[in-house]
Amino acid sequence: KLSDEARGARGGVRGGTRAAISQPHLRKDRWWLAPAATALGLFAFVVYSTWRAFANADYYAAPYVSPFYSPCLADNCETMKGGPNWALFGDWWGLSPALLILIFPLGFRLTCYYYRKAYYRGFWASPPACAVAEPHRTYTGETRFPLILQNIHRYFFYAAVPVACILTYDAVLGFRDEHYAWGHMGLGTLVLLVNAALIWAYTLSCHSCRHIVGGRLRHFSKHPVRYRMWGWIGKLNQRHMSLAWASLFSVALADLYVYLLATGAFSDPQLF
Ligand code: FES
Repeated sequence: KLSDEARGARGGVRGGTRAAISQPHLRKDRWWLAPAATALGLFAFVVYSTWRAFANADYYAAPYVSPFYSPCLADNCETMKGGPNWALFGDWWGLSPALLILIFPLGFRLTCYYYRKAYYRGFWASPPACAVAEPHRTYTGETRFPLILQNIHRYFFYAAVPVACILTYDAVLGFRDEHYAWGHMGLGTLVLLVNAALIWAYTLSCHSCRHIVGGRLRHFSKHPVRYRMWGWIGKLNQRHMSLAWASLFSVALADLYVYLLATGAFSDPQLF
């Protein structure tokens, strides 16, 4: 058994100010299952999205554009052939156009309160789970560089709102056929619509959004509209974790769908 001095010198949860429990934890359930599944899911998404972001191909199958490549901001966009394209970057940009835009949704998710919890647990074991001691000797939370940069999340929220608008616009453009005539709906339209809805639900359920809408008010009674919106967003906010996963899955699925169409793996079934 360690003396108080020795425990104090060790720091972290073994420090002298913490309870002297020798076992790493007292949990008897399979506590490791959730962080392991989280790490696996996030790792799979990172591998898939990295491959697709750098692929620089097969992201447009008229009239659908992959959410990873929208808006397409360079001259080298496949969508120049007739799809949505805002070539703000001109022809000097030679890399994948996805790299220009993915920084915003990526930054939003990377700094998200839920994802922070998920990858701190899944990848850094900090802590691995509730009531399970972390292996690190010291703990500084998010008070120092680089983790203090997580505070930038509220600004990524402002960037995420236009991204959600653009994905909605893309879904509306999906009501055209491959010759850009309006009044059609394919399975791809439905895929993009569901993805846009889930992206909106995830974005609006953000803790920063909830604070922007209803925070820093002294009297809710004097701001009935904001109070009501705050109530709605609070309900969504309770499901933030589920929405984070659902929208992560849907954005990958929407990209995969466009990829399969673009590579000719199958044709888009027409619903009307
Ligand atoms: Fe998760 Fe803002 S807290 S997106």
